[in-house]
Amino acid sequence: MRKFVVAGNWKMNTNLPEGEQLASDIMSLLGQRNFDLDRYGVIIAPPYTHLYRLGQIIDNNKIRLGAQNMGWEEKGAFTGEISADMLLSVGVEYVIIGHSERRKYQKEDDQLLLKKINLALAKGLKPIFCVGEELNDREAGKHFDVVRSQIENVIFSLEVHNMENIIIAYEPVWAIGTGKVATPGQAQEMHAFIRQMIADKFGSQVGVNMTLLYGGSCKPSNAEGLFSQKDIDGGLIGGASLKAQDFVTLVDMLIEAK
Ligand code: PGA
Repeated sequence: MRKFVVAGNWKMNTNLPEGEQLASDIMSLLGQRNFDLDRYGVIIAPPYTHLYRLGQIIDNNKIRLGAQNMGWEEKGAFTGEISADMLLSVGVEYVIIGHSERRKYQKEDDQLLLKKINLALAKGLKPIFCVGEELNDREAGKHFDVVRSQIENVIFSLEVHNMENIIIAYEPVWAIGTGKVATPGQAQEMHAFIRQMIADKFGSQVGVNMTLLYGGSCKPSNAEGLFSQKDIDGGLIGGASLKAQDFVTLVDMLIEAK
Protein backbone atom coordinates (compact mmCIF):
# COMPACT_ATOMS: atom_id res chain seq x y z
CA MET A 1 0.00 0.00 0.00
CA ARG A 2 1.27 3.47 -0.80
CA LYS A 3 2.24 5.56 2.21
CA PHE A 4 1.62 9.32 2.49
CA VAL A 5 4.34 11.23 4.27
CA VAL A 6 5.21 14.66 5.62
CA ALA A 7 8.90 14.89 6.42
CA GLY A 8 10.55 17.91 8.03
CA ASN A 9 14.12 18.67 7.01
CA TRP A 10 15.39 21.07 9.66
CA LYS A 11 18.71 21.55 7.86
CA MET A 12 21.33 23.46 9.91
CA ASN A 13 18.79 25.18 12.13
CA THR A 14 18.08 25.17 15.88
CA ASN A 15 20.39 24.49 18.77
CA LEU A 16 19.45 21.64 21.09
CA PRO A 17 17.10 23.55 23.44
CA GLU A 18 15.35 25.11 20.43
CA GLY A 19 15.09 21.70 18.80
CA GLU A 20 13.62 20.20 21.98
CA GLN A 21 11.08 23.01 22.05
CA LEU A 22 10.14 22.54 18.40
CA ALA A 23 9.77 18.77 18.76
CA SER A 24 7.63 19.08 21.86
CA ASP A 25 5.49 21.78 20.24
CA ILE A 26 4.92 19.47 17.27
CA MET A 27 4.06 16.63 19.63
CA SER A 28 1.55 18.68 21.55
CA LEU A 29 -0.07 20.05 18.40
CA LEU A 30 -0.40 16.54 17.05
CA GLY A 31 -2.11 15.90 20.39
CA GLN A 32 -4.65 13.15 20.39
CA ARG A 33 -4.70 12.66 16.65
CA ASN A 34 -4.78 8.99 15.85
CA PHE A 35 -3.75 8.34 12.32
CA ASP A 36 -3.21 5.02 10.64
CA LEU A 37 0.55 4.57 10.79
CA ASP A 38 0.58 2.14 7.89
CA ARG A 39 -0.97 4.80 5.72
CA TYR A 40 0.51 8.08 7.00
CA GLY A 41 4.00 8.91 8.16
CA VAL A 42 5.34 11.98 9.92
CA ILE A 43 9.11 12.29 10.00
CA ILE A 44 11.43 14.91 11.44
CA ALA A 45 15.05 15.14 10.37
CA PRO A 46 16.80 17.41 12.89
CA PRO A 47 20.57 17.96 13.04
CA TYR A 48 22.68 14.98 14.15
CA THR A 49 23.36 16.53 17.54
CA HIS A 50 19.65 16.45 18.41
CA LEU A 51 18.76 12.94 17.31
CA TYR A 52 19.33 11.06 20.53
CA ARG A 53 17.52 13.58 22.71
CA LEU A 54 14.61 14.11 20.33
CA GLY A 55 14.20 10.37 20.04
CA GLN A 56 13.36 10.45 23.74
CA ILE A 57 10.87 13.31 23.38
CA ILE A 58 8.82 12.15 20.42
CA ASP A 59 6.16 9.48 20.53
CA ASN A 60 7.11 6.84 18.02
CA ASN A 61 3.46 6.20 17.36
CA LYS A 62 3.22 9.64 15.83
CA ILE A 63 6.62 10.77 14.60
CA ARG A 64 9.64 8.91 13.26
CA LEU A 65 13.21 10.14 13.27
CA GLY A 66 15.19 10.85 10.16
CA ALA A 67 18.79 11.98 9.61
CA GLN A 68 19.79 14.55 7.00
CA ASN A 69 22.79 12.60 5.77
CA MET A 70 24.95 9.58 6.48
CA GLY A 71 28.54 8.49 5.91
CA TRP A 72 29.30 6.34 2.86
CA GLU A 73 31.46 3.79 4.68
CA GLU A 74 30.51 1.46 7.46
CA LYS A 75 33.09 2.71 9.97
CA GLY A 76 36.69 3.71 10.40
CA ALA A 77 38.99 6.66 9.87
CA PHE A 78 36.51 9.14 8.40
CA THR A 79 36.80 12.16 10.66
CA GLY A 80 33.56 14.02 11.05
CA GLU A 81 31.36 11.39 9.42
CA ILE A 82 28.35 9.71 11.06
CA SER A 83 27.67 6.07 10.26
CA ALA A 84 24.49 4.15 9.58
CA ASP A 85 25.05 2.11 12.76
CA MET A 86 25.38 5.29 14.81
CA LEU A 87 22.08 6.55 13.42
CA LEU A 88 20.36 3.25 14.09
CA SER A 89 21.68 3.20 17.65
CA VAL A 90 19.84 6.44 18.46
CA GLY A 91 16.56 5.39 16.91
CA VAL A 92 16.81 6.81 13.41
CA GLU A 93 14.63 5.09 10.83
CA TYR A 94 14.95 7.31 7.73
CA VAL A 95 17.88 9.05 6.10
CA ILE A 96 17.81 11.81 3.49
CA ILE A 97 20.25 10.97 0.71
CA GLY A 98 21.24 13.23 -2.15
CA HIS A 99 19.68 16.48 -1.03
CA SER A 100 20.53 19.15 -3.61
CA GLU A 101 22.36 21.18 -0.98
CA ARG A 102 24.74 18.27 -0.42
CA ARG A 103 25.07 17.64 -4.15
CA LYS A 104 26.00 21.31 -4.51
CA TYR A 105 28.09 22.19 -1.44
CA GLN A 106 29.66 18.79 -0.72
CA LYS A 107 29.86 17.83 -4.39
CA GLU A 108 28.10 14.53 -3.74
CA ASP A 109 27.68 12.70 -7.03
CA ASP A 110 25.50 9.81 -8.13
CA GLN A 111 28.24 7.26 -7.52
CA LEU A 112 28.63 8.32 -3.91
CA LEU A 113 24.88 8.51 -3.42
CA LEU A 114 24.47 4.97 -4.69
CA LYS A 115 27.06 3.82 -2.16
CA LYS A 116 25.19 5.57 0.62
CA ILE A 117 21.84 4.17 -0.44
CA ASN A 118 23.19 0.64 -0.64
CA LEU A 119 24.72 0.94 2.80
CA ALA A 120 21.58 2.49 4.29
CA LEU A 121 19.41 -0.29 2.87
CA ALA A 122 21.80 -3.02 3.96
CA LYS A 123 21.67 -1.64 7.48
CA GLY A 124 17.90 -1.31 7.55
CA LEU A 125 17.60 2.47 7.23
CA LYS A 126 15.02 3.84 4.81
CA PRO A 127 16.47 6.34 2.34
CA ILE A 128 14.60 9.45 1.25
CA PHE A 129 16.34 9.98 -2.07
CA CYS A 130 16.19 13.50 -3.50
CA VAL A 131 16.18 14.39 -7.17
CA GLY A 132 15.48 17.63 -9.01
CA GLU A 133 16.68 19.95 -11.71
CA GLU A 134 18.29 23.39 -11.54
CA LEU A 135 16.59 26.46 -12.98
CA ASN A 136 18.78 26.51 -16.10
CA ASP A 137 17.87 22.86 -16.79
CA ARG A 138 14.20 23.71 -16.63
CA GLU A 139 14.59 26.79 -18.78
CA ALA A 140 16.44 24.70 -21.35
CA GLY A 141 13.64 22.12 -21.27
CA LYS A 142 15.99 19.49 -19.85
CA HIS A 143 14.25 18.85 -16.52
CA PHE A 144 13.00 15.39 -17.45
CA ASP A 145 16.45 14.39 -18.72
CA VAL A 146 18.13 15.51 -15.50
CA VAL A 147 15.70 13.68 -13.24
CA ARG A 148 15.78 10.62 -15.48
CA SER A 149 19.55 10.34 -15.17
CA GLN A 150 19.51 10.94 -11.40
CA ILE A 151 17.07 8.05 -11.03
CA GLU A 152 18.75 5.76 -13.54
CA ASN A 153 22.20 6.28 -12.02
CA VAL A 154 21.12 5.43 -8.50
CA ILE A 155 17.69 3.86 -8.12
CA PHE A 156 17.98 1.58 -11.16
CA SER A 157 21.01 -0.14 -9.60
CA LEU A 158 18.91 -1.34 -6.67
CA GLU A 159 17.00 -4.58 -6.33
CA VAL A 160 13.25 -4.66 -6.63
CA HIS A 161 12.80 -5.82 -3.02
CA ASN A 162 14.51 -2.61 -1.84
CA MET A 163 11.91 -0.42 -3.40
CA GLU A 164 9.38 -0.74 -0.59
CA ASN A 165 11.93 0.85 1.75
CA ILE A 166 12.67 3.89 -0.38
CA ILE A 167 10.98 7.24 -0.68
CA ILE A 168 11.80 9.54 -3.58
CA ALA A 169 11.51 13.30 -3.17
CA TYR A 170 11.26 15.52 -6.22
CA GLU A 171 12.75 18.86 -5.25
CA PRO A 172 13.29 21.31 -8.10
CA VAL A 173 16.39 23.17 -6.96
CA TRP A 174 14.97 26.52 -8.06
CA ALA A 175 12.08 26.07 -5.61
CA ILE A 176 14.12 25.18 -2.52
CA GLY A 177 14.20 27.93 0.06
CA THR A 178 13.32 30.49 -2.58
CA GLY A 179 9.62 30.91 -1.91
CA LYS A 180 9.16 29.97 -5.58
CA VAL A 181 7.04 26.84 -5.53
CA ALA A 182 6.51 24.56 -8.52
CA THR A 183 2.94 24.78 -9.74
CA PRO A 184 0.82 21.74 -8.91
CA GLY A 185 0.84 20.98 -12.64
CA GLN A 186 4.63 21.11 -12.93
CA ALA A 187 5.06 18.95 -9.84
CA GLN A 188 2.39 16.43 -10.83
CA GLU A 189 3.87 16.09 -14.31
CA MET A 190 7.29 15.23 -12.89
CA HIS A 191 5.88 12.90 -10.25
CA ALA A 192 3.93 11.01 -12.90
CA PHE A 193 7.11 10.77 -14.96
CA ILE A 194 9.08 9.36 -12.00
CA ARG A 195 6.35 6.90 -11.10
CA GLN A 196 6.23 5.68 -14.70
CA MET A 197 10.00 5.19 -14.71
CA ILE A 198 9.79 3.13 -11.53
CA ALA A 199 6.89 1.10 -12.91
CA ASP A 200 8.70 0.42 -16.19
CA LYS A 201 11.81 -0.75 -14.40
CA PHE A 202 10.43 -2.58 -11.36
CA GLY A 203 6.86 -3.43 -12.29
CA SER A 204 3.56 -1.60 -12.16
CA GLN A 205 2.74 -2.59 -8.58
CA VAL A 206 6.03 -1.16 -7.34
CA GLY A 207 5.21 2.05 -9.21
CA VAL A 208 1.75 2.25 -7.66
CA ASN A 209 3.10 1.72 -4.14
CA MET A 210 6.02 4.11 -4.38
CA THR A 211 5.88 7.16 -2.12
CA LEU A 212 6.83 10.32 -4.05
CA LEU A 213 7.23 13.55 -2.09
CA TYR A 214 7.36 17.08 -3.40
CA GLY A 215 9.86 19.49 -1.85
CA GLY A 216 10.58 23.16 -2.45
CA SER A 217 8.85 26.03 -0.61
CA CYS A 218 5.89 23.83 0.29
CA LYS A 219 3.81 25.43 3.04
CA PRO A 220 0.20 25.57 4.23
CA SER A 221 -0.70 28.32 1.76
CA ASN A 222 0.23 26.23 -1.29
CA ALA A 223 0.04 22.62 -0.11
CA GLU A 224 -3.59 22.01 -0.97
CA GLY A 225 -2.97 22.25 -4.70
CA LEU A 226 0.10 20.05 -4.45
CA PHE A 227 -1.27 17.37 -2.12
CA SER A 228 -4.42 17.01 -4.19
CA GLN A 229 -2.38 15.80 -7.18
CA LYS A 230 -2.68 12.08 -7.69
CA ASP A 231 1.03 11.31 -7.87
CA ILE A 232 2.12 13.62 -5.04
CA ASP A 233 2.15 11.64 -1.81
CA GLY A 234 3.26 14.33 0.59
CA GLY A 235 6.11 16.72 1.14
CA LEU A 236 9.72 17.09 2.17
CA ILE A 237 9.46 20.36 4.03
CA GLY A 238 12.31 22.72 4.87
CA GLY A 239 11.40 26.21 6.08
CA ALA A 240 7.83 25.40 7.11
CA SER A 241 9.01 22.43 9.20
CA LEU A 242 10.66 24.89 11.61
CA LYS A 243 7.27 26.25 12.60
CA ALA A 244 5.38 23.66 14.63
CA GLN A 245 1.96 25.00 13.64
CA ASP A 246 2.75 25.06 9.93
CA PHE A 247 4.25 21.58 10.03
CA VAL A 248 1.26 20.06 11.82
CA THR A 249 -1.11 21.93 9.49
CA LEU A 250 0.68 20.25 6.59
CA VAL A 251 0.13 16.87 8.25
CA ASP A 252 -3.58 17.65 8.60
CA MET A 253 -3.76 18.86 5.00
CA LEU A 254 -2.16 15.67 3.71
CA ILE A 255 -4.54 13.45 5.67
CA GLU A 256 -7.43 15.55 4.39
CA ALA A 257 -6.21 15.27 0.79
CA LYS A 258 -5.53 11.51 0.79
P1 PGA B 1 12.15 24.42 1.61
O1 PGA B 1 13.20 23.21 1.62
O2 PGA B 1 10.83 23.86 2.03
O3 PGA B 1 12.69 25.39 2.64
O4 PGA B 1 12.14 24.99 0.24
C1 PGA B 1 12.83 21.94 1.16
C2 PGA B 1 14.01 21.02 1.19
O5 PGA B 1 15.12 21.47 0.87
O6 PGA B 1 13.90 19.84 1.54
